[in-house]
Amino acid sequence: MSDTFNICDGDPYFCVVGSPINHSKSPQIHAAFGRQCDVPLRYERVEIKAGSFQQALAEFVVAGGRGMNVTVPLKEEACLSASTLRSRAQATGAANMITVDADGTTVGDNSDGAGLIRDLLGNHRQQLINTRVLLIGAGGAARGVIPSLLAEQVAELVVVNRTALKARTLADQFSRLGSIRASDYDSLSGEPYDLVVNATSLSLSGQIPPLPRAVIGADTCCYDMMYTQDGKTPFLEWCRSTGARQAYDGLGMLVEQAANAFSLWHGVEPDTAAVIKMLR
Ligand code: ATR
Repeated sequence: MSDTFNICDGDPYFCVVGSPINHSKSPQIHAAFGRQCDVPLRYERVEIKAGSFQQALAEFVVAGGRGMNVTVPLKEEACLSASTLRSRAQATGAANMITVDADGTTVGDNSDGAGLIRDLLGNHRQQLINTRVLLIGAGGAARGVIPSLLAEQVAELVVVNRTALKARTLADQFSRLGSIRASDYDSLSGEPYDLVVNATSLSLSGQIPPLPRAVIGADTCCYDMMYTQDGKTPFLEWCRSTGARQAYDGLGMLVEQAANAFSLWHGVEPDTAAVIKMLR
């Protein structure tokens, strides 16, 4: 029997797993959605180390778990461990949510890309069709949102990364989904982009990517997938200093990806604006 997950004998049981996990806001977000929509649920935060996901998932199923959110560094392992995958997980090679069906089948899915798009379109009133988009970074966070950005029929998606080979690999992998190409920082120039998304891990260490100022204009929508309590990150501050009028952190994306998972699990759409406001 698992001592990681407690056997569920009451409300439907959900959790978020990752390492570290103490900072995760997912329990707060799902509890708030549950109160709002009158949906009873138990949602816990569980520390699972890299390499232990498959075992943890098996224990969660035995414990009666219904759905699991997955964060760093387990999203790729989750994708490999689920019994079946929805197309969003298949396309990105990562799962940020697992649904446990009534017969114990585990279904991997990925709502990260949907979270970004819902935040940009719904909360920040952007339109993406025919826009030029610059995606900074070529790690798991960048990979997770590329199919969703291309599905919005952007005119061009440029992936820029310190390690050029990783950006080229992503561009090759996703080229069948739309117009995508790789670049290095030195080759970036020309007109400001319509949307610039920071998917690097640099903000975590207070650093900013080495972008030329020319890629940011007054009307560029600047987005950092990292979030902070006050919505300020080093990248967004730099964007503002170059004259950008719109600069958004990733708190909305976090809440929107959770809302997408919640609606799939419970069949009801929560009000995200109220929860974003609560978390600020
Ligand atoms: P995640 O899963 O959060 O995306 P990751 O896979 O480790 O984490 O990717 C981190 C991203 O931040 C990568 O694009 C990385 O660039 P490299 O592929 O060249 O490593 C980028 N990054 C991290 N530190 C960086 C730095 N000092 N300068 C530029 N880019 C950096």
